[in-house]
Amino acid sequence: MSGLFGRAALRELLCGPRARGPGLLVRPSSGEPSWARERTLVTVKPDGVRRRLVGEVIRRFERRGFRLVGMKMLQAPESVLAQHYERHREEPFYAALLGHMRSGPVVAMVWEGPSVVRASRAMVGLTDGAEAAPGTIRGDFSLHIRRNVVHASDSVEGARREIQLWFRSSELVDWADEGHRGSLDPA
Ligand code: PPS
Repeated sequence: MSGLFGRAALRELLCGPRARGPGLLVRPSSGEPSWARERTLVTVKPDGVRRRLVGEVIRRFERRGFRLVGMKMLQAPESVLAQHYERHREEPFYAALLGHMRSGPVVAMVWEGPSVVRASRAMVGLTDGAEAAPGTIRGDFSLHIRRNVVHASDSVEGARREIQLWFRSSELVDWADEGHRGSLDPA
């Protein structure tokens, strides 16, 4: 690349900046405390999309009171999946997992709210649908570990990494429950 712009600068100009830094998880702009603005990545996997479960997953997170701050449907790029599942690379199920994640579109979402990482893991349920408790997403909709409908980040640090991997900062929307009673307000 010659001229005024390098490749990275040109990409930022065309596509917006990539999300980076701790500011991604906690933004002070709404005046809410930082603990109320924790973020996590939730993806509806190809089996969940095929089974028309996207709305069901969104409904559960909205009903719980979490705030949707980013969402997109995409055919997940191989490079994103390789980084996302990096720590499972040596597992015997790795190839099958990536194959499944490449088999159709996924819906990636960023949800925000108090302890959203811990709460979303509880809402999603155990990895193996056969063991997941009724009332959890997997407990209600999954019978097999290879078709477990959703992914949710397993830690605050993991969420930060995954959100940066799947979303540009320009794709995340900062908004607050101004003007109406939100789930964080006392009764
Ligand atoms: S987690 O969420 O990291 O605690 O889950 P974990 O049990 O460590 O599993 C990591 C991801 O690998 C998927 N997985 C499998 N896929 C196919 N077959 C088998 N046997 C299997 N075991 C685990 C599991 O669904 C996790 O993927 P995500 O997308 O994070 O849910």
